[in-house]
Amino acid sequence: MQLLSLVGLALLATTASAAIPDWQQCGGTSWTGETQCSSTAGCVKVNDYYSQCQPGAASPDPQPEPQPQDPEASAVLPGTPTSTGTPAGTGPGTELQSGYYWVRAVAAPNFHKYVQSKPLYATGPAVLGDYTTAGQFQVVSGQLVQLVSGPGVKPEKLLYGVVSETRSINNNSLAISWSETQNTYGTFAWGGDDLQWSHPSINRPNKSAWYVCTGQLMYINLGNYLYQTPSGCADQTIHYYNDKKANN
Ligand SMILES: *[C@@H]1O[C@H](CO)[C@@H](O)[C@H](O)[C@H]1NC(C)=O
Ligand SMILES: *[C@@H]1O[C@H](CO)[C@@H](O)[C@H](O)[C@H]1NC(C)=O
Repeated sequence: MQLLSLVGLALLATTASAAIPDWQQCGGTSWTGETQCSSTAGCVKVNDYYSQCQPGAASPDPQPEPQPQDPEASAVLPGTPTSTGTPAGTGPGTELQSGYYWVRAVAAPNFHKYVQSKPLYATGPAVLGDYTTAGQFQVVSGQLVQLVSGPGVKPEKLLYGVVSETRSINNNSLAISWSETQNTYGTFAWGGDDLQWSHPSINRPNKSAWYVCTGQLMYINLGNYLYQTPSGCADQTIHYYNDKKANN
C-alpha cells in the first residue's frame, strides 16, 4: 500500500512541479534541492553524494533513499550531517609531508584551487577548494592516495580516489570520491605534472581533462577539453605542486 501511495505522489509531483533538466543533480547526501526528474528521465545514484537525472533511466532507484514523505526522514533537517562520512583523520597539516604533493588547478575559474575531500580528511566527494585546506597526495601503483593523518603519524591513514563506473553529467564524465578501499576502475598517473586517469576500454581524447562542477565537485571529463562543456562545469587540468606550503 505504501508503494502505491509513493507512486501516486510521484505522479502528482511529475505533473505539479518543474522537472530537473537531464544530467543535473537530483539527490545525494546533503542534497536539499529538487528531486524530480522529467517524465522521460530517472534519478540515478552515481555515488552516495550525487544522484543525477539520466534520460531513459528507470526511476526511482532500485534502492531508494528515504522518501521525503516518510515521517522519520522528514525529522532530519536539510543540511544535518549524516553518518556517511567516516572521519578518517585529522589531516596532514599545512606543511607538505615528505613524498606527497599538493594538487591544484592553474586556470580560471579555479586558479590555485586545491584537491581535497569534502568533508575534510574523510570519505566523501573529491572537490577543488581553498589553499588553506589543501589535501596532500601521491600516485602509487595507479592509485590516487590522500594522506589524512597528522604529520609524522605512523602508520599513515590514507584515503583512495575512487572513480565511479557510472557516467554522470552529459553522460561524458565520471565522479570521484574518497574511500578507505582502493579504486578498482582505471588507473591514475602523472603525465608531466598533470593528473591523468585512463582505462583500457575508454578512448579519451585528452587524459588530463577534468570538469569542476557545481559544488566544486571533480569529474573526469571523458570528452575533449573545452568542447561542449556542460552547464555548471568548468574545464580544468589538475597539476601537482611541491612547495612547502600551498599558496593562493
Ligand atoms: C552513455 O554513454 C555510453 C557510452 O558511450 C552509452 O553506452 C550509453 O548508452 C549512454 N547512455 C545514455 C543514457 O545516453
Ligand atoms: C589536454 O588539454 C590541455 C588543456 O588544453 C592541453 O594543455 C594538453 O596539451 C592536452 N593534452 C593532449 C594530449 O591533447
